[in-house]
Amino acid sequence: MRKKIVAGNWKMNTTVAEGVALAKDLVAALGQVPSDVNLVVAPPFVHLTSVGEVIADSKIALSAQNCANKAKGAYTGEVAAAMIAGVGCEYVILGHSERRQYYGETSATLVEKMALAFENGLKPIYCVGEMLAEREAGNHFAVVRAQIEEVLFGLTAEQMANVVIAYEPVWAIGIGVTATSEQAQEIHAFIRKVLAEKFGALAEEITILYGGSCKPSNAKELFACPDIDGGLIGGAALKAADFIAIAQSY
Ligand code: PGA
Repeated sequence: MRKKIVAGNWKMNTTVAEGVALAKDLVAALGQVPSDVNLVVAPPFVHLTSVGEVIADSKIALSAQNCANKAKGAYTGEVAAAMIAGVGCEYVILGHSERRQYYGETSATLVEKMALAFENGLKPIYCVGEMLAEREAGNHFAVVRAQIEEVLFGLTAEQMANVVIAYEPVWAIGIGVTATSEQAQEIHAFIRKVLAEKFGALAEEITILYGGSCKPSNAKELFACPDIDGGLIGGAALKAADFIAIAQSY
């Protein structure tokens, strides 16, 4: 049985006070979430300690949204994987399309970040996904394959077993357009097939999340697909009721 995960990527939203309030609302509503659905929240770095305290005794796990590609030292403005692990994070999101697009994150950088995440006991939530032009040109399979091969194929099986993948078509993020469940299932199955080429039967054990305007109204249909094991939720993760409703969609 693959682990089911609903993860909230808060991106650069909420003050610490607002984030703490949101986390408290989530903890209060946990009774409504099926016991086999694992929740993760990824608030901004400065929230991690306070939000971590709120969720400490709950089944919600803590994630960072990024980490540095260096272990420590003179890298002004960066946050190291060791620091993230030190405040109680279990996960770190790596390779989000906004980081690739706006901050020039490449596969080479992500290989370094991934190594540091593992050295510090963090589980990467590794994001892949194509841009609109790439899909329109029919290149989405090649793009996603390259993102997987370049960053994940160098991992050991033991490391790979601790990776969660999030497929997020860039054209569906934050704008209300969602991939159809057929489009999402097709590429999730493809991702699993590519993983199997390198990791064999382990591919069946890897949790693959869908992300991109996932909301209470479409989560049920997406999560019903055989290769979709949950969601990475942006906008809808900022409202406790919506995030919980998505988690209930299983
Ligand atoms: P969205 O963001 O749900 O707001 O589309 C998803 C993501 O980018 O992780």
